[in-house]
Amino acid sequence: MPLRSMLFVPADSERKLAKGLDSPADALILDLEDAVAPPRKVTARGMAVEFIGAHASRLATRLYVRINPLDSGMAMDDLAAVVVPGLAGIMLPKTLGADDIRRIAFCLDALEARAGIAPGTVRIVPVATETAQSMLTMASYTADVPRLAGITWGAEDLSAAIGAISNREADGSLSPLYTLANSMCLCIAAAASVPAIDTLYGDFRDPTGLAASCAVARRRGFRGRIAIHPDQVAIINEAFSPSEAELAHARRVVEAFAAQPGAGTVGLDGAMLDMPHLKQARRTLGIEADAPLAT
Ligand code: COA
Ligand code: MG
Repeated sequence: MPLRSMLFVPADSERKLAKGLDSPADALILDLEDAVAPPRKVTARGMAVEFIGAHASRLATRLYVRINPLDSGMAMDDLAAVVVPGLAGIMLPKTLGADDIRRIAFCLDALEARAGIAPGTVRIVPVATETAQSMLTMASYTADVPRLAGITWGAEDLSAAIGAISNREADGSLSPLYTLANSMCLCIAAAASVPAIDTLYGDFRDPTGLAASCAVARRRGFRGRIAIHPDQVAIINEAFSPSEAELAHARRVVEAFAAQPGAGTVGLDGAMLDMPHLKQARRTLGIEADAPLAT
């Protein structure tokens, strides 16, 4: 299942959960963390479990839960509750590095066994840039980090961690630390052989700006994006799907290589093509996956 769009749904909101059901999002992230106020945490956890139980068959492979951070005192209670049949994955906020993923993966080994879920079913998507430490441990993400389904990043919590007044410059552009976080997300996702999922676009009443921003993100290598409002999902899905022209070109590239078996480089329309072009074309056609299917 591709992860073009991941829609955040605050897990304590009956209305938003109901609305999420009809969303064409590739995944729903039932949020137990920042979208839920402290007094509602336990309620949200219970509602998430109930929702997964009720809709597991309809939304199989599409249900993620963002648990509270490992140092919050709530993460283990969250995990112990939400690992039930139908859960596709966990989003882990405020990670310090890949060791956090291994720790969660180890817990999931036991929780899956208890729930009667096949080992390795529940995947992990870390928010990999939300702490100062995480920016210093990027090299810890490698292809043997277990259970990864993708990696995303965020600029809000990092600026809070740094004590910045804003994560933007006076002209409105992202400050260097956050463009670095964005770029590092691309690198660590590639190093771990999983898709990079871009962070949210906050202005949910600006479809044109969202589409333009997604086009930039896709060109840079992001494979999908977080959504915070249902209206953003269709725009994101379209932006991160190859156009007809891209598909047609990719087919021609694959055919050009197929026509010259053993050739490492071929010419097409006056341009030189070699292995990276073939790899890119195969990825566009879905022949070449970003992520290993099993860990
Ligand atoms: N998931 C599912 N449904 C949502 C939704 C979401 N993320 N955001 C809004 N909706 C629903 C609303 O409930 C409303 O449906 P209803 O009339 O049946 O209740 C409909 O979509 C239209 O919502 P709208 O009035 O445009 O927005 P709002 O003012 O109610 O909500 C936000 C705005 C930002 C509070 C809301 O979009 C939201 O909660 N987003 C997710 C925030 C989040 O999870 N943050 C954590 C990650 S950063
Ligand atoms: Mg946050």
